[in-house]
Amino acid sequence: MKKEDEITKEFLENVLESMDGGVFAIDKNGRITLFNRSAEEITGFKREEVLNKECCHILKSDLCKEKCPLKEVLEIGKPVFNYEIMIATKAGNKVPVNITTSPLRSSNNEIIGAVENFRDLTKHKGLWGKLRQERNKAQQYLNIAGVIIVAINDEGIVSLINREGCDVLGYKEEEIRGKNWCDLCVPERMRKERKDTFKKVMAGEKKEIEDYENSILTKSGEERIIAWHNTTLTDDKGRIIGTLSSGKDITQRKQTEEELNRSEKLVSLGQLAASVAHEVNNPLAGIMIYIKLFLKKYKEKKLQAENTEKQLLKMEKELDRTTRIIRNLLDFARQSEPNIRPVDMNKVLEAALLLVGHQISLENIKLEKKSEAHLPLILADFDKIQQVLINIIMNAIQSMPDGGNLTIATSVVKGIRIGELPKDAVRIEIRDTGVGITKENMSKLFTPFFTTKEKGKGVGLGLSVVHGIIEQHNGKIIVDSEPNVGTTFSIYLEVMDEKKDKNTRR
Ligand SMILES: Nc1ncnc2c1ncn2[C@@H]1O[C@H](COP(=O)(O)OP(=O)(O)O)[C@@H](O)[C@H]1O
Ligand SMILES: [Mg+2]
Repeated sequence: MKKEDEITKEFLENVLESMDGGVFAIDKNGRITLFNRSAEEITGFKREEVLNKECCHILKSDLCKEKCPLKEVLEIGKPVFNYEIMIATKAGNKVPVNITTSPLRSSNNEIIGAVENFRDLTKHKGLWGKLRQERNKAQQYLNIAGVIIVAINDEGIVSLINREGCDVLGYKEEEIRGKNWCDLCVPERMRKERKDTFKKVMAGEKKEIEDYENSILTKSGEERIIAWHNTTLTDDKGRIIGTLSSGKDITQRKQTEEELNRSEKLVSLGQLAASVAHEVNNPLAGIMIYIKLFLKKYKEKKLQAENTEKQLLKMEKELDRTTRIIRNLLDFARQSEPNIRPVDMNKVLEAALLLVGHQISLENIKLEKKSEAHLPLILADFDKIQQVLINIIMNAIQSMPDGGNLTIATSVVKGIRIGELPKDAVRIEIRDTGVGITKENMSKLFTPFFTTKEKGKGVGLGLSVVHGIIEQHNGKIIVDSEPNVGTTFSIYLEVMDEKKDKNTRR
């Protein structure tokens, strides 16, 4: 009898070992009690490594966390057929398998565990092969796209990246896929913040910002500036499972823009310096005269308390104004870091006028200011918008060599189309009664180095800088002009959405 048992056992083991499909058995606690040769081949584990271990710790299938098929089988006492899952191999690769789980019964029909038999689907031709073909085709489409395309799963792991992405980052595809995006490609100083935001986006606590610019870190340690467009990916039940982003490398454009800004700034500084010097010189000369007068009276012991106080106060006021002008000029000259914050357009206008005001009166121009009180704030870089206003006002001044009227008005406009959607915006209009712009020149206005001015007066960069800055702010410029009548520049910048701003700014 015993002998027969052994023969049967040997026979069964041989059958299991010769089977093409992977087979393993588990007890009621999910511990592996049997593991055949094919299972070893598919998973890369040796039998002795897995026996008595819980199967979920070994195969780490995507189902283990949610709905263990083993438990289901133990509960319902019936097999679960042909479901497809990904399991992990010993080397950490993921393999798609088709599994059937059946209850394992003792001789008295009691359920004592389960048997799983599974097939490696990557080896399967047919459907799986077709799927792979489709995937390869999709990858080819992605590869010819001239933008970076990257998909990141809910754990921050790169699940897909196209050729442009690899090229910009300097990695091979296999060096990025399966790695944590933030650890590999986000510069260290921004990593923690980016990870936190991503976590919140995955948890559904925060919406991913659709468009933003930030830097990535390439393999060589260089940083590139990328303009991203993002969407969150959801499964068929609406759960967030990752993000899909496309990005364009705009490093070169940014550098050119910065260079343009710098050269234009030098030009406007040159032009401003003369008029500012004048503006500062006058009060200083006045103060000098007072001081001489005081000294004379002091020596003659003729100082009168009341008059002296009045004159000292006047001197203080003048000095205060000169200090402000100089500080403003220095601020303007400084190469400042981009600094986006809530800004009041009227304040920017005041700062700009402090620098160009004297030029206006010097050129026999009448300035009329119509600023709307209590303007809503805009999200902007104060210094850059100040530069925009200075460039446009200087052009207006230069267009009226024989004097004229300069009207500057700020206001709110509701529902103006900026980009795709109608939005509320702050408008600033700068109107001159100058020479105007011919139809022919109208289309060239914003091209770098276009100028109608003589050497020394203009280099043709002012308006291209204006254009660059307004574009960075997602704003809009409209020019309206009639030769010999005058020109109006209108700038629209979106009103800051305070609610949205609090939630999404990083
Ligand atoms: N307010 C204006 N009135 C008439 N022409 C203007 C005005 N603003 C700009 N332009 C025209 O646009 C050109 C380009 O301006 P800009 O880019 O500031 O360069 P620049 O002032 O150095 O010439 C000017 O040379 C001028 O022909
Ligand atoms: Mg100019």
